[in-house]
Amino acid sequence: MTRILMVCLGNICRSPLAHGIMESKLSENHFYVDSAGTAAYHVGNAPDKRSIAVAKKHGLDISTQNARQFKVSDFDTFDYIYAMDQSNYKNIVSLARHPNDIEKVKLFLEANTAIQNKNMPDPYYGDESDFEYVYKLANKTCAIIAEGLKH
Ligand code: 4NP
Repeated sequence: MTRILMVCLGNICRSPLAHGIMESKLSENHFYVDSAGTAAYHVGNAPDKRSIAVAKKHGLDISTQNARQFKVSDFDTFDYIYAMDQSNYKNIVSLARHPNDIEKVKLFLEANTAIQNKNMPDPYYGDESDFEYVYKLANKTCAIIAEGLKH
């Protein structure tokens, strides 16, 4: 079983989308996917309505996810930890206990060579089109990562 964790700040906008999309591209027999936020503001909450809506538009149901905060034991549980932006990356790495922990943490968009800006934009203060952009970028990037994991 390969375990993948998607991480953003609140775990209500970006990482729930990356979580749902990645899960849809991998066999549940071989992969476990989860998401978390570096902050605790929204712990226990469902994803943002706009993330749920854009996922639904593309045939994915992410409405049953619940936000949780990233915890140090996630370094033990997961094989790959994908940070949505540089700030999330720094916050995760600041909790690392040893170099093996840090090695597991990647900037999600590093996998997508077509994209120059490696920070997934935070759509929280944006509108529907910002959520659509996050969906598209996450979908393409998850496809690249999933393809790499299958080999
Ligand atoms: P996320 O977006 O990190 O993609 O879930 C945000 C959600 C909530 C807040 C910021 C970003 N907030 O400040 O409450």
